[in-house]
Amino acid sequence: MIYSKITGTGSYLPEQVLTNTELEKIVDTTDEWIRSRTGIEKRHVARDDETTCDLAEKASRAAIEMSGKKENDIDLIIIATTTPDVIFPSTACLLQQRLNIHGCPAFDIQAVCTGFVYALHVANLFIKNGTTKCALIVGSETMTRIVDWEDRNTCVLFGDGAGAIILEESKTPGILSTHIHADGAYQKLLSVPGGISSNYNLVKSNKAFIKMQGNEVFKVAVNTLGGIVDETLQANSMSNTDIDWLVPHQANTRIISAMAKKLDMPISRVVVTVDQHGNTSAASIPLALDVAVKDGRIKENDTLLLPAFGGGFTWGSALLKY
Ligand code: UT7
Repeated sequence: MIYSKITGTGSYLPEQVLTNTELEKIVDTTDEWIRSRTGIEKRHVARDDETTCDLAEKASRAAIEMSGKKENDIDLIIIATTTPDVIFPSTACLLQQRLNIHGCPAFDIQAVCTGFVYALHVANLFIKNGTTKCALIVGSETMTRIVDWEDRNTCVLFGDGAGAIILEESKTPGILSTHIHADGAYQKLLSVPGGISSNYNLVKSNKAFIKMQGNEVFKVAVNTLGGIVDETLQANSMSNTDIDWLVPHQANTRIISAMAKKLDMPISRVVVTVDQHGNTSAASIPLALDVAVKDGRIKENDTLLLPAFGGGFTWGSALLKY
């Protein structure tokens, strides 16, 4: 039986930090409102000349170094991103060139905040069917580029960053299961309503920004994440007590707390980074994972549950032995 296992993690956050107090000068908001409704204290913002691929490259180099692999060992590159550098080539191809890797498949996955879990699902299948031995999987985002800095409903929520993992073929698990879903019926609740072949005028006038009906998204997110947690545990005949660490998508501490409560897990067993990073979309799970691996909380053989929810709607989860 072929399994896949994480052998390296890495992350990168842009140097520039934007605090809630600084946001008070930009829109009609308060540090108190942002903290109490979202848990966010600050977020990182990429410089104008810093791109999603730049962040991805730094996170990837850190993950490769930790794994002990060489760039040329990598035989699959997947980047989960909603904010690619250019329309094409894919950001994965741009990253491949930066890392001086030639010939292996490289592609982007677009599932917004669930993107990293989708990428993990796909890479796991590639490894299990023998196509791939060593995959580089990245979540990288410059979400602040698609934020309307005049809309207090959304601009306080998002941040930039990247997280990466090396996933290798292994004789022992590894990834225990992955679960991915989508329902486009909810597309209007959370979207950037302008793009290349629809509402291009928004792009041309520099107004292709995130629109969200926050409260509606919140309710569906809490219910859906509860469901995906049940689905994942059932698929593995496990119960909440088998989980060592919950490493969820980081959108809002209230959503994360609801998940912890459902699992009857103390918040001390949940990796929370949204306070420091804001919502970094596809980057949030691999960023949180790297933080908890590097600070020593997550240890070898720990069982991790990685649930995510995002625009589309998309949702999914991964259960794994670290
Ligand atoms: O990552 C992908 C998925 N995304 C999510 O999961 C996000 C889900 N949604 C949320 O996290 C929350 O809904 C928000 C944090 C976005 C909003 O929190 P809420 O408790 O749902 O607030 P609300 O949207 O119901 O707004 C409550 C009030 C409104 O004022 P009125 O109409 O009651 O007078 C808003 O105008 O808060 C107001 N408000 C703000 N006030 C100060 C909205 N944004 C702000 C702000 N500062 N930044």
